[in-house]
Amino acid sequence: MLERSRLATWGETHLQHFAVSYDLPVVFTRDAFDPANPTFADALRRLEPAKRHRVAIFVDSGVQAAMPSLERAIRRYAAAHAGAVAIEGDIVVVPGGEEAKTRPGLVEELLGALSARAMDRHSYAVAIGGGAVLDVVGYAAAIFHRGVRHIRFPTTVLAQADSGVGVKNAVNAFGVKNLVGTFAPPFAIINDGAFVDHLAPREKRDGMAEAVKVALIRDRTFFEWIEANADALAGFHPNTLDRLIERSAKLHMRQIAEGGDPFETGSARPLDYGHWSAHRLESLTGHAVSHGEAVAIGVALDTRYSVLAGLLPEGEDERVHALLTTLGFTLWSETLARREADGQLAILRGLREFQEHLGGELTVTLIDAVGHGVEVHRMDHGLIGAAIGWLAERQV
Ligand SMILES: NC(=O)c1ccc[n+]([C@@H]2O[C@H](COP(=O)([O-])OP(=O)(O)OC[C@H]3O[C@@H](n4cnc5c(N)ncnc54)[C@H](O)[C@@H]3O)[C@@H](O)[C@H]2O)c1
Ligand SMILES: [Zn+2]
Repeated sequence: MLERSRLATWGETHLQHFAVSYDLPVVFTRDAFDPANPTFADALRRLEPAKRHRVAIFVDSGVQAAMPSLERAIRRYAAAHAGAVAIEGDIVVVPGGEEAKTRPGLVEELLGALSARAMDRHSYAVAIGGGAVLDVVGYAAAIFHRGVRHIRFPTTVLAQADSGVGVKNAVNAFGVKNLVGTFAPPFAIINDGAFVDHLAPREKRDGMAEAVKVALIRDRTFFEWIEANADALAGFHPNTLDRLIERSAKLHMRQIAEGGDPFETGSARPLDYGHWSAHRLESLTGHAVSHGEAVAIGVALDTRYSVLAGLLPEGEDERVHALLTTLGFTLWSETLARREADGQLAILRGLREFQEHLGGELTVTLIDAVGHGVEVHRMDHGLIGAAIGWLAERQV
């Protein structure tokens, strides 16, 4: 942060300090559009209990396909809560997945939909979808009228446990992921476990990598709970999965509220354990390796690295490897061994890209105990190579 004393210049500085405080309710529920469930209506009424609130609804095409009766359920819900909810116009279907953040013109289409519905700063853009759809609708909501109220219903395990319960949004531009976006805390986030039931096994598993990640850097008890429940989680037992999502989401929210840097102005990305290699792996494989799969590999890699760097006791790396394997992750990709023309491991460029995203000093989170992250500002390329070799040896 800029020191106030440095502001003295040739002219006269009048330094006006101000702070803005936010309330961000995150609700954990099931069947949010069952008319008997007051969660959504209560979220809309949080600031003005007596008003009928105007709402524009955006739904992920993947969710729409998996739950063809959702639109009818939302309409039925609005009718049952007509005193609180007025849905403006049709429900807008947004292409699901990364396409949502990349397709040229989509942001303009969403802004057009908000404009056609005459949304104002007291009405709501509601997004129901995976992290990608939440990102693009959240971005449109943040810039329309400089920000209309935005309510999120994350529908993947990953979005409910991690990406959807945050204050950021973004779209991809000029070939760069998340290049354009804002920090804009949503009005509320509603995590409805019923959406997760409709996901394919791969997508259910993906979000578990983020839970293991946050447990490793913040919460030993949670890590031990995941270990104790690994078989139930691997079998996607709904109640166990709900509990994993809730604990993970709360840890992510706590970082935003108490980490001291909700809008990421510093050089650190404290929750991005295992992510420098994960992001690179995703792009090197053209996203054939999903984010969650890449995070599982990245977490295993950085845990072994933590041992090799003398931070973490030997054996804890085996433990993390075993847990991720039980959860169903494959902790290897041939891409880890790929080399550039100059002989360097291709994955290493991920370190530079990780630093460039924020600017400032390279800051990577490692662990010195299960449940405790530490920041380092340098990573040894030789040790990274050795950690990759260790992962290779564990492949059957
Ligand atoms: N804003 C942030 O802070 C933040 C943080 C991390 C990641 N992200 C972003 O999140 C995105 C990834 O999100 P994701 O992992 O949720 O995947 P996703 O949004 O790409 O969705 C994956 C697929 O699942 C489908 N889908 C979603 N919910 C479904 C459901 N309930 N049933 C059936 N199909 C469903 C989608 O249509 C899509 O095809 C990335 O773009 C990433 O950049 C954002
Ligand atoms: Zn992640």
